[in-house]
Amino acid sequence: MIKQTDLITKTVEFVKNSLQNAESGHDWWHIERVWKNTQLLLKTETADHLIAELAALLHDIADAKFHNGDEEIGPATARNFLQSLAVSENIVYHVEQIIRHMSFKSSFEPAPFSSIEMKIVQDADRLDAIGAIGIARAFTYGGYKNRQLYDPTIAPNPNQTKEEYKNSTAPTLNHFYEKLLLLRDKMNTSSGKTIAIQRHEFMEGFLKQFHAEWVGEL
Ligand code: ADP
Ligand code: NI
Repeated sequence: MIKQTDLITKTVEFVKNSLQNAESGHDWWHIERVWKNTQLLLKTETADHLIAELAALLHDIADAKFHNGDEEIGPATARNFLQSLAVSENIVYHVEQIIRHMSFKSSFEPAPFSSIEMKIVQDADRLDAIGAIGIARAFTYGGYKNRQLYDPTIAPNPNQTKEEYKNSTAPTLNHFYEKLLLLRDKMNTSSGKTIAIQRHEFMEGFLKQFHAEWVGEL
């Protein structure tokens, strides 16, 4: 099998090339941040570094949202790439399973697959959805979907079904109450949780300021 450092280098190259035209919420920089978050969590969590890093790098390789909802393209693309480098089947399989099952969408239901490596990468991805970067990504996504910033007459609904959530046209601010503020309590690892607590507080501060400015206070 190819040397571990060469495998990571080749994977970085492959992901950068594949994501050249990706929108800014899922571009190479998102992947790099999730990879760095993963490396940070690996300092305190005991896990297989190679599997966690490969999964972090490949986790958004073909997002279903941009492939007519096909949830199998991502895992299949990762498998084909790793197989092309003759990576051993147990690693290929594990990485493929992480990519298949780690999205927030799947976490509406009980997980059919779990491992410490998956928990770490899922935490690393969630950390990039909260805090200052999380705020920036939410408004970027909202702009891309032509959503309103906020509408005080449209209440957030944190108990939506998967289908309702997908078809929602709610303002971007609702996303904070429906998803982003719920992530802190969904963290898998204690090191992830510690970082999430700080980023959560930052979002709460932002929302407080947003609502104050909305009504012309301050
Ligand atoms: P990822 O692929 O990183 O797990 P998603 O594809 O679910 O995450 O979302 C990508 C980014 O877009 C995240 O930062 C998320 O908060 C944001 N986003 C997703 N849905 C919405 C929405 N309805 N309104 C605002 N932002 C959203
Ligand atoms: Ni992601």
